[in-house]
Amino acid sequence: MAILEIKKVGDTSLRQKALPVERIDGTIRHLLDDMAETMYKADGVGLAAPQVGVNKRIVVIDTGEGLLELINPEIVRSEGEMENTEGCLSVPGTSGRVKRAQKVYVHYLNRRGKRNRIIANGNLLATCLQHEIDHLEGILFIDKAEEVRTNV
Ligand code: NI
Repeated sequence: MAILEIKKVGDTSLRQKALPVERIDGTIRHLLDDMAETMYKADGVGLAAPQVGVNKRIVVIDTGEGLLELINPEIVRSEGEMENTEGCLSVPGTSGRVKRAQKVYVHYLNRRGKRNRIIANGNLLATCLQHEIDHLEGILFIDKAEEVRTNV
């Protein structure tokens, strides 16, 4: 495994719409391993492939309940509203309050290509899923935050 370079705001790779994964092969599984290692090393709770310069719809998340690997994740339904403080490994030293759905239903493929689903309600995972899936659309939390703070 390897630690990958995390792209920072201003890098064009963060602003592209990522492409669906067509075939889950060894390259994709290797990328999942490297992304997880990179996320843990950076003390993050989530990382999307565009953040390491890979234009594919892949996300890793660990909010303290184990590693989630999501290929082609899609929010199929969302309900309610909540607001939380967010940060991002690609926007270091910055935080902001972001309004998100309270409950999300996400469909995805796992590393063996099996269809899977997650329902997250009102917790860090719900925020994280929406934040990471935004990355796949080239959207950063600072685009949505009402007020952005720099933590010097
Ligand atoms: Ni982020």
